[in-house]
Amino acid sequence: MKFFIDTANLAQIREANELGILDGVTTNPSLMAKEGITGEKATLDHYKAICEIVDGDISAEVLSTDFKGMVEEGQKLAAIHPNIVVKVPMIKDGVKAIKWFTDNGIRTNCTLVFSAGQAILAAKAGATYVSPFIGRVDDISWDGLQLIEQLVHIYDVQNYQTQILAASIRNPMHIIKCAEIGADVCTCPLEPIVALLNHPLTDSGLKKFLQDAEKMKTAVAGQ
Ligand code: G3P
Repeated sequence: MKFFIDTANLAQIREANELGILDGVTTNPSLMAKEGITGEKATLDHYKAICEIVDGDISAEVLSTDFKGMVEEGQKLAAIHPNIVVKVPMIKDGVKAIKWFTDNGIRTNCTLVFSAGQAILAAKAGATYVSPFIGRVDDISWDGLQLIEQLVHIYDVQNYQTQILAASIRNPMHIIKCAEIGADVCTCPLEPIVALLNHPLTDSGLKKFLQDAEKMKTAVAGQ
């Protein structure tokens, strides 16, 4: 399973990248706005800066909701860097735009996906990635991980090439379960990625090793 970071914060992107386990980045208009990015130039510059930090696929979302606008915006985004993947919402014009991008060699990430039916349409249109938002499904008392399981099964049976990119990850168990189920990619904020590191037995084990290491140094010094 590939690991993407779901943020537009450059410091957090750098931190995850320095761990050496990062395969890409996803952003969305809310994450960009959170970083205070406004206007076309600042937006394109920010994506360029992300591409300079991470050597992997970077999702950049269109803001238009009509076919013509999405195609125009997507072409500009794709021209920033070969690693840019144009993120397109799961709406009727979005499906048409994904098909257009597919036919014109531009890779896409179909976003705001909450059902198997939507994921089938994204795959049929040729999306490179499909982004089911599992945390938001959980938020309305449905089962986000069950959705991932269903998509993995359908894509396997139908031999769809679209990669399942589990998004809206809220905790480390989401990541572990996505890996178990067979999601192709998990995109997560920095916190759940770092939380995967934690285990009390690692902490107590290391504490004991360090205490014994001190004894070893004392013993060597006393010889
Ligand atoms: O990038 C889309 C997605 O990951 C959003 O997550 O936490 O706002 O539901 P969240």
